[in-house]
Amino acid sequence: MATAGFSLIPNANPTDARVREEILANPGFGRFFTDHMAHVRWTASDGWHNAEVRPYGPLTLDPAASVLHYAQEIFEGIKAYRHADGSVWSFRPEKNAARFRASARRLALPELDTETFIGSLKALVAQDIGWVPTPGSEADESSLYLRPFMIASEKFLGVRPSKEVDYYVIASPVASYFKGGIKPVSIWLSSTYNRAAPGGTGFAKCGGNYAASLAAQKEAEAHQCDQVAFLDAVENKWVEELGGMNLFFVFKDGRIVTPALTGTILEGVTRDSVLQLAKDAGLKPEERPISIDEWREGAASGEISEVFACGTAAVITPVGQLVGENERITCTAENGGEVGRSLRKQLLDIQYGRSEDTHGWLTRL
Ligand code: COI
Repeated sequence: MATAGFSLIPNANPTDARVREEILANPGFGRFFTDHMAHVRWTASDGWHNAEVRPYGPLTLDPAASVLHYAQEIFEGIKAYRHADGSVWSFRPEKNAARFRASARRLALPELDTETFIGSLKALVAQDIGWVPTPGSEADESSLYLRPFMIASEKFLGVRPSKEVDYYVIASPVASYFKGGIKPVSIWLSSTYNRAAPGGTGFAKCGGNYAASLAAQKEAEAHQCDQVAFLDAVENKWVEELGGMNLFFVFKDGRIVTPALTGTILEGVTRDSVLQLAKDAGLKPEERPISIDEWREGAASGEISEVFACGTAAVITPVGQLVGENERITCTAENGGEVGRSLRKQLLDIQYGRSEDTHGWLTRL
């Protein structure tokens, strides 16, 4: 038995310890995976059953499985951090569990309870604990990125909710999401594409949202930008989010603004934590609509002193420039970004156990 009801099929051919150490020394992002994965099966007749941790490896999926045709799929992103005493912790996993349930409801998938969700993370990490990187310094943000996901696996081409579903968790040792570490990223403002519309799936963490962002991301890269920013689909006026991260705007008078959750924006766990940390630091956090003109004019006049992106993978990353068809606006000065840098340090210090977890955000895995 592994953890909390998860049975164990151990990997008979785990990665050689020397190879694993080489990977951990330079993991990049999402390129390497650990020796095991967690799995729980769901059927309409039996509900959730067969919780197991088994060797990491390819899935056997019928070519008619509905996920392959109608994208009935959701996922989460959450990290496991090694503390100085060797213990391993996750950050607000109950928030990810709740969001996973909200995503499941929107995609007509079965809901997984928080206990099984967190149990699956614990069961997998217990098995692959040697894959959790030990950060070499405070600047080192390496961790084990956990990727829970749920797919519709019934062999059926009719368009209706699948009666068979599989939930998995895979794990990947990671360093920073962006290649250059925390150097400022450039953002392409897409005038061609929107990410989400009212009543759609914008708030859900489903693969389809990310698939739909890729053409815009390609457009960004064609303009030498790192990420794409989306405006709302109704007025093309209100800033929503990046391809896979939320946005914050720091005003020089201490206000720190992030777009309000309207149903078209992902409710980021890092976003919520930044709002709390900003409040703790005496800043004035505001969740409200912010227009692209307010961004443009604020950055150009210096009213907005810095802009940053945040997410589990990206942590807090400064936005250097906003780039559009005929514009290039500096959002965070070359050596600026103090507020983002300070919030980033506070967040990482809590996650890595270097400062007190006053909000009770950590759960031991
Ligand atoms: C995360 O931040 O965990 C995400 O899922 C976003 C993706 C860009 C990796």
